[in-house]
Amino acid sequence: MQNIETVRNDLLARIAKSDTPRELFKVPELKQLMTAITSLPVEERGAYGKSINELKQALEVAIVAREAELDNATVESIDVTAPWDINGSSLQLFPTENGTQHPLTTELENVIDIFTRMGFEAIESRQIDDDEHMFASLNFHENHPARDGYDTFRTEEGFIPPAHTSTMQNRILKVGKAKLEAGEQIAAISYGRVFRNEDLDPTHEHTFYQCEGVFVSETATLGQMLGTLRSFFETYYGQKLKIKTQPAYFPFVEPGLEFAIEKPAALGGKSGEWLEMLGCGMIHPNVLKAAGIDPVKYRGFAWGGGIERLVMLKYSIEDMRHFKSGKLAFLRKFV
Ligand code: PHE
Repeated sequence: MQNIETVRNDLLARIAKSDTPRELFKVPELKQLMTAITSLPVEERGAYGKSINELKQALEVAIVAREAELDNATVESIDVTAPWDINGSSLQLFPTENGTQHPLTTELENVIDIFTRMGFEAIESRQIDDDEHMFASLNFHENHPARDGYDTFRTEEGFIPPAHTSTMQNRILKVGKAKLEAGEQIAAISYGRVFRNEDLDPTHEHTFYQCEGVFVSETATLGQMLGTLRSFFETYYGQKLKIKTQPAYFPFVEPGLEFAIEKPAALGGKSGEWLEMLGCGMIHPNVLKAAGIDPVKYRGFAWGGGIERLVMLKYSIEDMRHFKSGKLAFLRKFV
């Protein structure tokens, strides 16, 4: 126990000064303390193990604090009140760059471009909506348990910052009805920000981007949907891909599927490593009905998925939170 105390004090002091504090988890003293438990009498092991855990927790807290300190030290501070010198003297704030488009915007434009070339009309999604569009028109009745899956924020007035771009489906269908009646088909994507009250981690954000697709005609099939999605992903990643689907439940499609691609070897994937990219399926008759479209005469498919996930795979970005961090070092990689 005394040893634990000594190692603790020593490591805490070293962490506070280290540039690579996490490395200190690897010091031999710590390993020795951990393996020492096996040489103790059984009745002492419980208390010893607890102290080791406390030590590890204390070190983790100190390391995270030190990492944050190092991180802050590297954030560049910009004096926004300094004059912009167009003559290029040393006062010039941004000698070589005047700012660039955010990588997510560039990639979203890329996605929109691919679908537009396939004949889809692109519509921006809303950032505030209501229960009718977010849920009711999508076949979630008032107490539908699947509503819980969407971790929805609400304003005091009952408005909803949408948790998926499917919030646009009813509008797309209603506007598109006239096209169907004129013998044409509905082919649209809606893209934009969505919001979920989620715990943050490397693959979850409270605010992120989605892109949704809606297609309706007299003859739409699941096969057409899979072909459309395959063609999108192969164009976006610039290579042939293996795809698969598995059943999934969304109240607004029947059947509902999850669409996965095999992580390409060129992006560090191993064979058999599947990445789930989006949800999709044949539009539920009730969703068509809610927009005044006859589900006997017409059928459609829809899909929706996150943009960050696409981009993270393309550029091997390991943490979704980088996108909104405002860190210039991250943003400059995309210039
Ligand atoms: N809106 C669903 C989600 O965000 C995805 C989805 C869209 C599923 C369209 C099926 C059809 O989870």
